[in-house]
Amino acid sequence: MTTDARPIGVFDSGIGGLTVLRELVARFPNENFVYLGDTARLPYGSKSAPTVRKYSEQNMKFLVSKNVKAIVVACNTASTQVAETSFEGRPVYNVIDPGSLLATQKTKNKNIAVLATRATIKANTYENKIKSLLPSSSVFSVPCPLFVSLAEEGWHNDPITDQVASRYLSELKDKNIDTVVLGCTHYPLLKSSIQKNFSSGTTLIDSGEAIAQIMSDDFKSGTIAANTGVANSDLLIYLTDTGPQFESLAVKLLSDYTTKKIKFETVAVI
Ligand code: DGL
Repeated sequence: MTTDARPIGVFDSGIGGLTVLRELVARFPNENFVYLGDTARLPYGSKSAPTVRKYSEQNMKFLVSKNVKAIVVACNTASTQVAETSFEGRPVYNVIDPGSLLATQKTKNKNIAVLATRATIKANTYENKIKSLLPSSSVFSVPCPLFVSLAEEGWHNDPITDQVASRYLSELKDKNIDTVVLGCTHYPLLKSSIQKNFSSGTTLIDSGEAIAQIMSDDFKSGTIAANTGVANSDLLIYLTDTGPQFESLAVKLLSDYTTKKIKFETVAVI
């Protein structure tokens, strides 16, 4: 059996992609991972499509320079601008395809909400994808830009976050939503505040869980070769700017999912 010990490269603008990374490290304990948080240029969600494309390409090139075997675009905003399924010979996974697929599988009444950054909503990628999979669905898209700052700030269970969530989500109250796509990887960190605005039977779709399933299928089919050896005990997180706040939050977020020792390094990607 072929084995490939090269790491899987994961990137986001900041802390949000760790909600994807934590699912992947827990699900694939034999694999090696490297993470890039483009903290110097966060947020992506308020930037134009060409700028997000340029940053995404630079991030992918950086990960390729770290000899990754696959790239996970753990950022929905970047995923709207990365349509390719391979980059410099490495398979590329975006978070929008698996999130859309899971939403269409989970919904019963076909009323789906997509919560995302302004750039993601503007790109319309979720709506197009969901409609192509389930044409009779109704998609309600709501930009929630402040959620990114609240997640980066670590206000994950906080009355201020509850208030912001309630203000953004009030427009969905009478829409009989049964499935909510957390269309920004920062948003799962605010799940409890978001959930309060929907009935208890509503399903929240988390990109991390959705992409872990797709990758698991690809390992099984051999689309990507697994590491059959023992994984490194270190998990390297590259940041484009220093951030003590980021570091302590990252350790906290990942500690329930992995026993790897998390190391940080500041780098330039351009
Ligand atoms: N986490 C990113 C996403 O999934 C975006 C956050 C940002 O605005 O940088 O869209």
